[in-house]
Amino acid sequence: TTIYLKEYQVPDFLISQVDLEFVLSPDNTRVKSRLKVTRNGAHDRALTLCGEKLTLISVAINDESVAADAYEQTDMSLKLPAVPNEFELVIETEIAPQQNTELSGLYRSSGNYCTQCEAEGFRRITYFLDRPDVLAEYRVRIVAPKAACPVLLSNGNPVAQGDGPDGLHWAQWHDPHPKPSYLFALVAGDLQFIEDQFTTMSGRDVALKIYTQSAYINKCAHAMASLKRSMAWDERVYGREYDLDIYNIVAVDDFNMGAMENKGLNVFNTKYVLADTDTATDADYEAVESVIAHEYFHNWSGNRVTCRDWFQLSLKEGFTVFRDQEYSADLGSRAVKRIQDVQVLRAFQFKEDSGPMAHPIRPDSYQEINNFYTATVYQKGAEVIRMLHRLLGADAFRRGTDLYFADFDGQAVTTEDFVHALERASGVDLTQFRRWYSQAGTPIIKVEQHFGDGVLTLSLQQSCPDTPGQTDKLPFHMPIEVALFSPDGKKLVAQTLSFNQAEQQFRFDNLACKPVVSVLRYFSAPVKLEYKQSNADRLHLIKYEDDGFVRWESMQQLCLAMIQPALTTGELDPRAYQRVRDAFEALMTDPNPSDKAVLAEMLTLPPAAYIAELASRVDPAAISAVRDRCIERLAKDLEKYFHALYADNNTALDTDAQSLAARRMLKNRALFYLVETGQTAYYALASHQYHAASNMTDRLAAFTALVQSHYPDRDALISDFYETWQHEPLVLDKWFAIQAMRPSSEALREVEDLLHHSDFTLTNPNRVRSVLGAFSGNLAGFHRLDGKGYALLVDYVIKLDQINPQIAARLVSSLNSWRRFTEPYASRMRTELARLNMVSQLSSDVREVVSKALSV
Ligand code: ARG
Ligand code: ZN
Repeated sequence: TTIYLKEYQVPDFLISQVDLEFVLSPDNTRVKSRLKVTRNGAHDRALTLCGEKLTLISVAINDESVAADAYEQTDMSLKLPAVPNEFELVIETEIAPQQNTELSGLYRSSGNYCTQCEAEGFRRITYFLDRPDVLAEYRVRIVAPKAACPVLLSNGNPVAQGDGPDGLHWAQWHDPHPKPSYLFALVAGDLQFIEDQFTTMSGRDVALKIYTQSAYINKCAHAMASLKRSMAWDERVYGREYDLDIYNIVAVDDFNMGAMENKGLNVFNTKYVLADTDTATDADYEAVESVIAHEYFHNWSGNRVTCRDWFQLSLKEGFTVFRDQEYSADLGSRAVKRIQDVQVLRAFQFKEDSGPMAHPIRPDSYQEINNFYTATVYQKGAEVIRMLHRLLGADAFRRGTDLYFADFDGQAVTTEDFVHALERASGVDLTQFRRWYSQAGTPIIKVEQHFGDGVLTLSLQQSCPDTPGQTDKLPFHMPIEVALFSPDGKKLVAQTLSFNQAEQQFRFDNLACKPVVSVLRYFSAPVKLEYKQSNADRLHLIKYEDDGFVRWESMQQLCLAMIQPALTTGELDPRAYQRVRDAFEALMTDPNPSDKAVLAEMLTLPPAAYIAELASRVDPAAISAVRDRCIERLAKDLEKYFHALYADNNTALDTDAQSLAARRMLKNRALFYLVETGQTAYYALASHQYHAASNMTDRLAAFTALVQSHYPDRDALISDFYETWQHEPLVLDKWFAIQAMRPSSEALREVEDLLHHSDFTLTNPNRVRSVLGAFSGNLAGFHRLDGKGYALLVDYVIKLDQINPQIAARLVSSLNSWRRFTEPYASRMRTELARLNMVSQLSSDVREVVSKALSV
């Protein structure tokens, strides 16, 4: 069944108070729910509650038991036909957390109880109006054996606790802030915690705790420091203060996504909490920092002001991703953060926008909401907020968000409410801008320039390709950041063009001579640029631009000019190659690189996935072959520079963590090229770094470079890593993923072995992602002429769908772009999708993806 935004209706009933009692047990947990229900408006419709995989024990209205023939039960609902206008409803159900492998609702992870209720998990705990526009005040009582579950947590503040008979104990919690059911959380088990505190801007003390199993407890300090920084940042930048006396975070091994912002009780994937230098890379530290911030920021953008319905998901996710991106940018290198965010957008969101699941950031319809936690809703959603920030300016944007938080506090609202608040606060007309919320597809911007008589004319043209169910799109309103540079490198003009027509011209007068034009600085709009820029201009911008994004992008363009023609001719154009080679040399010999992390990014060729995204027809073998040839030639031709770069950055001269991390990034980029030369001396260098490393960043960089090369002692190295790290699940995930990403047709055989490894399991999402997710993103290894990579993936999707449909559906989407591939790949991908589609018992999650992938 398809749900449509246009069919939204206010709820027939409201629930203002929820009292829950849990008596925990792995196979039969009792849930008693006492609800204060009121009819919403004048109607005589039945009360229909959502409920899935529940064993109903009893129903009572105003303390009178309701007989079984007085309600209608299906496997998705409980219908009470004639209810009073205002009443108390008590429902008892039984659930089996131990059997819950979908990891939605109440489940067990490493023996502890935890919950995941967004989007529709609460209905797997008890019958309820499980929709975000029903907000209630919750009281929760948890009863469990004291020995197995010393810790009992829920949302809000602790009220009371005590010991019961038979080794049981109990705890009571109260959350004073009305919330939708998707923000409910319960955690119980044998957990340790670390604690700290934060004093808010109005002087209130908040107790901060991070809980996890004892083996991990010494890896939580970075997450705690990140939490405190996030709290201070949201006060400073958005004026948002925390609103409870405690803030709890729990890290668990088994989690479908990254983390969840449950009110006062965030539940996290361990991947985004645990970090120490021995086991986590610099990139892991940054990921922890940003996800901790993301979930904290949800306390206002998501919890205090929540979503009316799930079509509004980007209201909280797009805005919160924008907030966490800016937080990380403020903390570290803004340019590198922007480059990395753009890379994620291009690799995942552009691909989604050009495939069968393309949808606007506010979708019009869905079959399974879990399939819409997408790069479009999250990352493109964040880009849309970023454009608003730029079009309005920081001050008006802040007035707008202040107004939004003030007007809608405690309510469930829409993206329209958000945009309208910004409009009211700024006076800027956003009528046309709203098209970003309703039109899918990545706009294509054509840029042409003409110069004469001291006047530069920039002509911009926009178009947007058709997407499923959407044709003939109207022009978008977007900010295009432009700067003009003089021949000697001075920045003459920098301004924001407000681009809102299909075709539009912009004039720059009084120029002494023809300037070099920099367009889409800071990647000011989520678009594809078609701009026949000369290589000379690109080199000029690499040298003189002060925006790191444009410097990096210009380098990427030089690389694409080398790679793209070779995809069809099979030959590297010597001049195109020489330009890249010389640009690399110039970058590496620059005595004062402005930002070492930007430099590391500039010395990286465009990822295979992005080259594929730009191609009209994807020939995976050609892309890998050309890209590998370029890497090998650059490595050999520039060996002495890479070696010098390695040596210069191999010693810790800096004292701050950020400079040290940038240095490591640059050094390890150099090491990658050195290993690619295939010289024994560099294998030895990498092997030495692997063994001598004092941190996981250096150890893993050396390991990755060697494992993905032709290193003769590869097998022994892989065993050594396993022996050393087999007891650290997050490190072992990396071990699995690096092998699954081996850029070679050998990857299939290795992946088959990994899938039979004793540490592989289909019940842990991180482990599944590290093998099957990594493999499906391996252009050279996954896409084979014999189609065996696709067949393996589909075999496992069928198995996994019985265990965890959300994760299974994510894996299928790697076949979504089959139409864009050359033969025989396209046919082989389609064959496997068709085979999957023939399976009769598919989840709604997988069914939606596979049927859309196959539909015309
Ligand atoms: N709201 C969470 C976050 O972005 C994501 C939870 C999504 N969960 C799911 N099962 N779809 O922070
Ligand atoms: Zn989020």
